[in-house]
Amino acid sequence: MINIKCSLNYVLVKKLITGKTAVVGIMGDPVEHSLSPPMHNAAFKHLKMDYVYVPFHVEHGDLGCAIDGARSMGIKGLNITIPHKTEVTNYLNEITQTAQLIGAVNTLKFDKTTISGYNTDGVGAVKAIEEITSINGKKIIIMGAGGAARAISFQLLFNGAGEVLIANRTMKKACKLTDELRKNFNGSISCLGLNTKLNEELKDADVLINTTPVGMHPNEDQKPMVTSDMMHRDLIVNDIVYNPLKTGLLREAEKAGAKTIPGTKMLIYQGMESFRIWTGITPPVEIFEKALMTGLGYKS
Ligand code: ATR
Repeated sequence: MINIKCSLNYVLVKKLITGKTAVVGIMGDPVEHSLSPPMHNAAFKHLKMDYVYVPFHVEHGDLGCAIDGARSMGIKGLNITIPHKTEVTNYLNEITQTAQLIGAVNTLKFDKTTISGYNTDGVGAVKAIEEITSINGKKIIIMGAGGAARAISFQLLFNGAGEVLIANRTMKKACKLTDELRKNFNGSISCLGLNTKLNEELKDADVLINTTPVGMHPNEDQKPMVTSDMMHRDLIVNDIVYNPLKTGLLREAEKAGAKTIPGTKMLIYQGMESFRIWTGITPPVEIFEKALMTGLGYKS
C-alpha cells in the first residue's frame, strides 16, 4: 500500500500495487508541491483503474537519462513541468502540431517504440472557458506574453477564437508573440500595452485572461491591471492564478457583474486531458476538482 502526500494536507489514496499496475507520473524540479498526483490518483481510484501517478524529481541536465529510463521501465505516460517543458521536445519521436507551434510539451505518452509529446495547458484553458461559452468567433484579451500566454493564445486560435489581443507590460514582447501567431493563423491578432488602448478594447471584449503573476500569493494585495470600471457585465474573466482562489482581478470582475473562472479550472482540465491521452478515458471533472480543492486546503 502507498500513501500519497500532498502539500500541507494529506490526500490519502490507498492503492494495492501489483506487477500489473501501470505507472504514470510527473517530472520536474521542484515537483514536491505538485497537485497532479492527488488529482490523477483520485480519478484512478474512482474509476477502479489499476494505475498509479508518481512524482519524479528530475534536475536540469538529467532529463534525457530520465526519459530513457522511464521508457525502459515501461512507464506509460508523464507530465513534464518546470524547467523541462521546452528541452523535452529534443527527446520525442512525435509531437502534436499545437505543441510544436507552442514550442513546449507538458505531456508524454510512451508506446512500444514511440514517445509522443502533447501540450495540454492551452487545451485546459480553452475547456475552462467552454464551461461557460463557446470560444468560436469570440474577442479574447490575454494579459501577459510569457509561456502560459503563448500556450493559451495558440490553442485559442487553433480552436477558432475570432480575435486575440496580447496585452503586456513590455509591449515588444507582446508584439513578438503576435508576429508568431500571425504567421500561423489568419484571424485578427494584435498586441498592446497595459494602457488606455486596453481600456478601449475591453469595451467589446468577450473574454479576459490573466496569465501574469499579478495578485498571486504572497502578493494578494497587488492592484489588478484591470479594475471593475473597465469591465462590462457580459465579460468573462479568467485568472490562471489559483492561489488565492479569488484573486483581486476576479473580485473586480464580480463587482462589475461579470462571470469569473478561477485558475483551478485550467489546472483541472489540463490534467484531465493528459489522463485522456494516456488512458483513452475522460475522468469526471468533479473528482479532479475535489482532489485539487482538498490539496489546496479548500473544501469543495
Ligand atoms: P509564464 O511562463 O508562467 O507565463 P513568464 O514567462 O515569466 O511566466 O511571463 C510572465 C508574464 O507576466 C510576462 O509577460 C510579464 O511581463 P513582462 O514581459 O513585461 O516582463 C508579466 N508580468 C510579470 N509581473 C508583472 C507585473 N508586476 N505587472 C505586469 N505584468 C507582469
